[in-house]
Amino acid sequence: MTETLKNDRLLRALRREPVDCTPVWLMRQAGRYLPEYRATRQRAGSFLAMAKNPELACEVTLQPLARFDLDAAILFSDILTVPDAMGLELYFVEGEGPKFRKPVRNAADIAKLAVPDMETELRYVTDAVRTIRRELAGSVPLIGFSGSPWTLACYMVEGGGSDNFPTIKALALNDPAALHRLLSVNTDAVIAYLSAQRAAGAQVLQVFDTWGGTLSPAMYREFSLPYLVRIARELPRGGGAERTPLILFGKGNAPYLEELAASGAEGIGVDWLVEMSEAARRTQGKVALQGNLDPAMLYGSPQAIADQARRTLDSYAQGNGGSRDGHIFNLGHGLSPDMDPEHVRALVDAVHEHSKR
Ligand code: CP3
Repeated sequence: MTETLKNDRLLRALRREPVDCTPVWLMRQAGRYLPEYRATRQRAGSFLAMAKNPELACEVTLQPLARFDLDAAILFSDILTVPDAMGLELYFVEGEGPKFRKPVRNAADIAKLAVPDMETELRYVTDAVRTIRRELAGSVPLIGFSGSPWTLACYMVEGGGSDNFPTIKALALNDPAALHRLLSVNTDAVIAYLSAQRAAGAQVLQVFDTWGGTLSPAMYREFSLPYLVRIARELPRGGGAERTPLILFGKGNAPYLEELAASGAEGIGVDWLVEMSEAARRTQGKVALQGNLDPAMLYGSPQAIADQARRTLDSYAQGNGGSRDGHIFNLGHGLSPDMDPEHVRALVDAVHEHSKR
């Protein structure tokens, strides 16, 4: 398990150590914008069949790495595997996104929830992690991940995606104690899930708080932030140079950067609504920063994409006392199915080219 990595840029950047160039990986780097992904999905029959089969999950995890000079692999899975294992029964409707057959709507539903057993219900995830680690053979680190307690709760209570989260926001107002119980079970489940992925071989862990930014500041500080902080404090991840770093990514988390930087996480992922220079200044070198190109920039020409990558890199350095250390390049959110793989290549290559030390 502890073979030396051929490419350890990501781990070094997370420790804010010097690197030869800035590491880059992209959220949803394995996905429908790749024709080889669509072919594997066709063979598997569905997204879930693919995610639940460790060999196929491994195959799609490696696809973007075969094409592009990426500095990390991310486990091919989904954040909703955890509520699925809690008995909510995840399914997908073509064109409508994820849904649950048994959403949780009230205190009685919530009281029945328990942390799922990682060894049985989520065995397919840890099996995928072990398979991917074996196939990567030390080329780049493998990132494991989970949803945040709040973001998972959004899907569990709404029963699927939502534009303005009416059901969970009503629950927050009408029965905050029940919502806190849900968030608390979710936090225990996230810690167990990330620990299991780490034990199986994940070398970096990321929490996706995709919907934290939909909360007012007071509600974010009540329903999302404290649970992120609990994960950062309680998730066992070893010590010294062998420590497994944790990245807290959040859409719309810019107002809370100081608080997130004090959470104990090694890295903070930000979206494109904040300048990297400002994010770096406000976090004062306490954490590594990941981000933050607007994914829509990939609709520009390869030259325009390279210019924007350079802008983001230079913005970070400007706010970080002139140094590029401690920066992980990423998009501010995931790639979309209609993006051109050649534009993704232009981005990855421009990041390495422009950030050479
Ligand atoms: O980044 C990666 O390459 C790793 C794989 C990954 C997926 N989902 C694969 C996936 C990761 C890290 C996720 C996380 C995830 N899933 C989040 C948090 C990050 C984010 O994007 O905000 C959320 C909110 C989900 C829930 C979810 N799962 C959604 C909204 C969808 C898209 C539904 C749709 O039809 O567009 C999924 C399905 C999903 N997860 C796909 C992929 C590649 C598309 C499935 C397909 O092939 O149809």
